[in-house]
Amino acid sequence: MCYSIPGRVVKVENKQIVLDYFGEKKVAINELGNIREGDYVFAQGGFVIEKVNAIEAEEILAGWKERFAELKAIDRKLSWSIVDGADFQVDSLSTYLSTDSESELKHICDIANRIRYKHLGNSCCVHGIIEFSNYCRNNCYYCGIRCDNMTLKRYRMSISEIVACAEYAVNNLGFRALVLQSGEDMYYTDDMLAEIISRIRDVCNTLIIVSVGSRSEECYKEMYGAGARGALIRFETSNLELYKKYHIGPKADWNHRFGLIKSAKDMGYLVATGSIIGLPGQTITDVLNDILLTKELGAEMYSFGPFIPHPNTPLAGNTSPNINLVLKTIAVSRMVSPNAKILVTTALETLDPEGLRKGLMAGANSFMINVTPEKYRRLYDIYPRAHKNIEAKIKDTIEILQSLGRAPSDFGI
Ligand code: 5AD
Repeated sequence: MCYSIPGRVVKVENKQIVLDYFGEKKVAINELGNIREGDYVFAQGGFVIEKVNAIEAEEILAGWKERFAELKAIDRKLSWSIVDGADFQVDSLSTYLSTDSESELKHICDIANRIRYKHLGNSCCVHGIIEFSNYCRNNCYYCGIRCDNMTLKRYRMSISEIVACAEYAVNNLGFRALVLQSGEDMYYTDDMLAEIISRIRDVCNTLIIVSVGSRSEECYKEMYGAGARGALIRFETSNLELYKKYHIGPKADWNHRFGLIKSAKDMGYLVATGSIIGLPGQTITDVLNDILLTKELGAEMYSFGPFIPHPNTPLAGNTSPNINLVLKTIAVSRMVSPNAKILVTTALETLDPEGLRKGLMAGANSFMINVTPEKYRRLYDIYPRAHKNIEAKIKDTIEILQSLGRAPSDFGI
């Protein structure tokens, strides 16, 4: 299964190239050199990641052409004609987030889904995620891999294991974008992280998104130099009091983390950020501020997931938010950021077995599939969640995407 459709290069202007996908034009940055008009490439997150042999590309496109039109028609039916041009009111965002009415929720989601269709069409990014270490120097109140959780068996994948896992995900499962995530584990030096990234790039073509927490700016520079192009760093909450109360660790200071997100953006990373929704003590105003802060940061990808209590943490006795609050957060994010990639998080899928479908119908267009080796997956226990076999998960996911008319692809910026 291929998660990306090749684009035909129709214009080359230095590093910027224009790609055509069944008549739709998208811009991407080419760092590979040697790309000419008429070539075919795979692009992810706005970066060219691989040149594709023309015969192979035309074969893939021929296989997709009809299917693509069918999917688009399904998506259009589900999103475009549901609400008329009815727009949202900027000064009502807080009211949208507060509503308890199911019919209003549906209306808000319908508006957001229509905006998603209008601006981004039916493309949907499916990224793989490798959780390579559950060691963490932090002691956050909400998180199951906090260093004080002595009940958790810890693991670290070796560099070779991580590279082999990435290679399998790209070359066998067909992923073209991978998130490398871990606790804040200083066992991996900056050089080791850079080595992991460059070795992955040596064996497969993929967009690499790092999610390794509040490491130094130098570390992020080195990872960029090695070829990482995305950074997933949530600010966790924009409410500084809550952040101070729950996010505990040697480099846990909010300003440091916030500064790091901004620096990552300046370094050229695609930035994915966001917060946990439903943390005890969080208000609707906080949630709205989280959305607006994500926009202010110029994030390419929005990541908002529900708080899920973990039994071995200080927040064990608390409850998750209602799924509707997360759906409203996704919908309002779409209203304020028509072009962003908005994730359905694994936490949302954990909260509700229909979470993926509901999130995609609330304006989201992106999600991740866990490709961590089976033997480690249960140990990456940030919150209790179900674990499915990768192939089964891919199959279920494709069925959901097809039923909603979404094409698992990434059309660039
Ligand atoms: N519930 C929901 N999300 C959590 N995270 C950590 N613990 C929890 C929890 N109990 C999120 C944090 C972190 C990401 C990897 O997982 O936002 O950034």
